[in-house]
Amino acid sequence: MKRAYRILAVDDEDFNQELLQTLLEPKGYEVVTADDGKQALEILSEKNIDLILLDINMPVMNGYEVCLRVKEDPRTRHIPVIMITSLDSRESRLKGMEAGAEEFLQKPADQAELLLRVGNILRAAEYEDAFNYAIMALARAAEANDLDTGNHILRVGEFSALIAAELGQADKFVEDIRLQATLHDVGKVHIPSHILKKPGLLDAGEMEEMKKHPAFGAAIIGDHPQLAMGRDIALYHHEKYGGGYPAGLRGEDIPLAARIVTLADCYDALRNSRVYKPCYDHAGAYRIITEGDDRTRPADFDQAVLAVFKKKADRFEELYIKMTDQAAAQKRSA
Ligand SMILES: [Fe+2]
Ligand SMILES: [Fe+2]
Repeated sequence: MKRAYRILAVDDEDFNQELLQTLLEPKGYEVVTADDGKQALEILSEKNIDLILLDINMPVMNGYEVCLRVKEDPRTRHIPVIMITSLDSRESRLKGMEAGAEEFLQKPADQAELLLRVGNILRAAEYEDAFNYAIMALARAAEANDLDTGNHILRVGEFSALIAAELGQADKFVEDIRLQATLHDVGKVHIPSHILKKPGLLDAGEMEEMKKHPAFGAAIIGDHPQLAMGRDIALYHHEKYGGGYPAGLRGEDIPLAARIVTLADCYDALRNSRVYKPCYDHAGAYRIITEGDDRTRPADFDQAVLAVFKKKADRFEELYIKMTDQAAAQKRSA
């Protein structure tokens, strides 16, 4: 059975907390309460929360601040926030929107309206969640045939999001690339596994076969508008900055998302061992990307993307370690 949605009600007044509880609990929601912003953040770090109802004026940490923190943290930013404001002004709404709140309700909240908003926002979040889940499932299915592990695609997504954010891309772009970069090699489902798993270098014929995976990937993803970025990434992540395949595009003719993923994928591939190659530590991977070797040249990358990599190299190393340990721990506990 599906578990009840868990709503975090943050309000410094007991009376308001009780009001929300008596309204929401009979409708099957689980309500967790917090008296101030600091307590809310503590609860968020311990429990899975599906929705936050957030008061603005509170001691210790106000609602705007809580909302900002929630939206900054990759672990909580997907949780929708409804701000409940007694400050009936345009300014407080704008501040709330800037902090990333999805919805606003005026205090005292109209009960029917509150229930409708809560229901709608949870349903929308559920669809988004299911969409993200399906993308990940597709990406994982394609890996079954390959030597990469589940966390390769997750790390490539995370590195790509890091680069995009550093390049000053909008939040939407950053979130999209985090998810859709995982599809970069989805076309490999069509490549025979004796090629994917071959120890040693591929011969010319095998290489030709391998070079078809970007077009296969684009065909699998198709032309859904929500997945346009994923399609670009799958199709163009081997274009390099010129001289790659399949289209032989150059420079900025290659979509930015693909230019970003090229570097993210390269770093992660260098860190992992394969039957045909050893793995490198961070310093080794850094050296190859920034100085080149017989397979990789710094000129293969968008120079702005490369500059971000150099600047944020420590962060790449941290993320790699964190996301690899997690995978190992999950395997052990499975
Ligand atoms: Fe690829
Ligand atoms: Fe990859």
